[in-house]
Amino acid sequence: MRTQVGIIGAGPAGLLLSHLLHLRGISSVVLERRSRAHVEQRVRAGVLEQGTVDTLVAAGVGERLLREGLPHSGIELRYGGAAHRIAFDKLVPDRRITVYGQQEVVKDLIAARLAAGGDLRFEVPDVAVHGLGAEPHVSFGGERLDCEVIAGCDGFHGVSRPSIPEGVLTVYERDYPFAWLGVLARVPPSAGELIYARNERGFALHSMRSPALSRFYLQVPPDADAGDWPDERVWAELKARLETVPGFTLATGEIVEKGVAPMRSFVAEPMQYGRLYLAGDAAHIVPPTGAKGLNLAVADVRVLTEALAAFFATGSARLLDGYSAARLPRVWRAQHFSWWMTSLLHTFDDDDAYARRLQLSHLDYVTSSEAAAATLAENYVGMPW
Ligand code: APR
Ligand code: PHB
Repeated sequence: MRTQVGIIGAGPAGLLLSHLLHLRGISSVVLERRSRAHVEQRVRAGVLEQGTVDTLVAAGVGERLLREGLPHSGIELRYGGAAHRIAFDKLVPDRRITVYGQQEVVKDLIAARLAAGGDLRFEVPDVAVHGLGAEPHVSFGGERLDCEVIAGCDGFHGVSRPSIPEGVLTVYERDYPFAWLGVLARVPPSAGELIYARNERGFALHSMRSPALSRFYLQVPPDADAGDWPDERVWAELKARLETVPGFTLATGEIVEKGVAPMRSFVAEPMQYGRLYLAGDAAHIVPPTGAKGLNLAVADVRVLTEALAAFFATGSARLLDGYSAARLPRVWRAQHFSWWMTSLLHTFDDDDAYARRLQLSHLDYVTSSEAAAATLAENYVGMPW
């Protein structure tokens, strides 16, 4: 079997790459380890930057997103018994975010690829990449896929990055001493906008998926088990961390999904080796506090598509050779922002009184200085493409 680009992983990165390449007349095969139902139902993040929305709309996969996505032009920072709005509409008037579940993006992309006759394979076992220097190919379940280029879109735990010879990559990483318990509940959102709450009991986030579905996160110990969080405990803790301003009551309802996600920062440099190019979580991870993971994956894929289009049209590898260098400045901007948002809003076990006062002072600065708020807003909605 032969294709131009062998794509490993059917997350947002692999699926969007396959679709954008198709629009440029470039063939690809997507190899995914899990089932279609699994990738379509996996609850992940849900904040799309303007550039991400624009990319999906321009690619013809934005119809449902424009209909069902929830546009937001601000977020709330809640701490010290008060609510503070970061007004994107005033600070970055040309850009806003759209709340739309990542698994909905995945469903839309799978539907588009299948409608166009795309070759997507699910439940593919034992994927391995070979011949990265001269003769790239992918083996899986006794079969062989020959390709000119391999795209590693297989997330943090995939096989692509580990197949790069030792000594090539420089890895930068940071673990955090906490995780997030994520909860999806059948209850209308209790506020119109996302609420990022800093609380002595730990961080909490109020988000949403639709007028009838709310999404919440709680900072929990790194080894927390969702089984130790019965619904009553989840609601009691969310109330304790969010009902801290006058007049705010958290509406409760049926919890339909619950899971613990680790928090990690990670970058592997360069994001390429030979004819293998890494995109999305395969190359970098951010903690979810800045809502950047999906948006970085989409931005990687946009740049990689341009480089591949030039390569297949002219034979020039100039843009492909520069792929990693083109992406890393933005990857690191998102790394810093995500680390900063995480540090600003969470409690740390080794915090002393001084550390807590510093954190509160910084929150006061961000919510009272227009310049500081604009920095947060610009990074949150996404730097211009
Ligand atoms: N063989 C085939 N597929 C694999 C393999 C493998 N060995 N290992 C992992 N995969 C698949 C996973 O099952 C998953 O479907 O690769 C896919 C990677 O998708 P994601 O983890 O969603 O990563 P990515 O596409 O880079 O999306 C960016 O942004 O919101 C964040 O972390 C969140 O997933 C999100 C990411
Ligand atoms: C979400 O809605 O899932 C969400 C929102 C904001 C974040 C992270 C996740 O920072």
